[in-house]
Formats: sequence, C-alpha cells, structure tokens
Amino acid sequence: MEQNSLRELYIEELKDLYSAENQLLKAIPKMAKASESDELRKGFEQHLEQTRGHVNRLEKIFGNLGESPKGKKCKGMEGLISEGGEMIEEHDESEMRDAGLISAAQRVEHYEIAGYGCVKTYATLLGDDQAASLLEQTLQEEKDTDQKLTQLAESINVDAASGEELEDESETSRSAGRGRSKAARA
Ligand SMILES: [Fe+2]
Repeated sequence: MEQNSLRELYIEELKDLYSAENQLLKAIPKMAKASESDELRKGFEQHLEQTRGHVNRLEKIFGNLGESPKGKKCKGMEGLISEGGEMIEEHDESEMRDAGLISAAQRVEHYEIAGYGCVKTYATLLGDDQAASLLEQTLQEEKDTDQKLTQLAESINVDAASGEELEDESETSRSAGRGRSKAARA
C-alpha cells in the first residue's frame, strides 16, 4: 500500500476510535450506576478515568498530525453500547445483571483492543513513533481492563449461579416441608 493511502486509513481509524472513546465517556457512568457489585462499579469508574486519558492521547496524536479528530461516528461501538443498554433493561436481578454488564464491557474492550492494535501498527509503519508509543499505552490499559473483567466475572458469575441454586434449594425445602407436615398429620 502507498504511504498516502496508509496515512488516510490511519487517520480514518483514529477518528473511529475517537468517536468510540467519546461514546464510552457517556456510557460508562450508566454501566457503573447499574452495577450491583461495589468492585464492578469501582472498576467502571476507574476505566472512565482511563478513558478520559485515551481521548487526550488521541487529541495529542491528531494535533501532531495537523488533523481534526472529528467527523466520524463509530457504528460498531454504538451497537455494542446499545446491547449493553438492553442488558441493563432486561435484567433487574442483580448478580445476573452484573454478569451481563461484564460480558458487554468485555465486548467493548475486545473491540478497542483490535482497533488500537491496528492503528499502532499503522503508526509504526508510517514512522510516527510518538503516536505508536501513546497508542501502545492505551492498548495496554484496555488489555489490563479486560483481564480485570475476567477476574471479576469469575467471582460474580459464581454468585449469579449460586443465587439460582439457592432459589432451587428453597423450592426443594419448601416441598420437603410440605411432605413433612403431611407426614406429621398422618
Ligand atoms: Fe479506551
């Protein structure tokens, strides 16, 4: 590919990420608010801080390129966020909703990891070393967030599953109780 076309693609994808990060600035507080687990909510709040940093890094890169970061809407992120919103609306039962929020957040992280991985490679190919290093820092933070979500998923999904078991158990003990009282009457 010619350097010019690669530069064009690089800028286009950076704009896409800029739009994605700005959409997340609005969506993450809603996900934090919907979280039942304190740990999950703190995780979202911490990632909101990081996301502000991601936006700043992108603005710095655009500034150095002499280009505007605006002009593109990331439809992929729009879709992922809208699915996350459905998750919140559809589940009011707490642990299950947390498990659903984690699954939505991990989809977001994987999407961003793919996007940042690509633009970082383009930056390196174009000799934009400063941008490559800024993009690598963001990429690393997205990967760390994904790992933290995996750890949280392990504990929260266990809670969600044991919540169901407890319901089953109380159902069984209720019928057992009915059995016993019948036996006592007899
Ligand atoms: Fe980000």
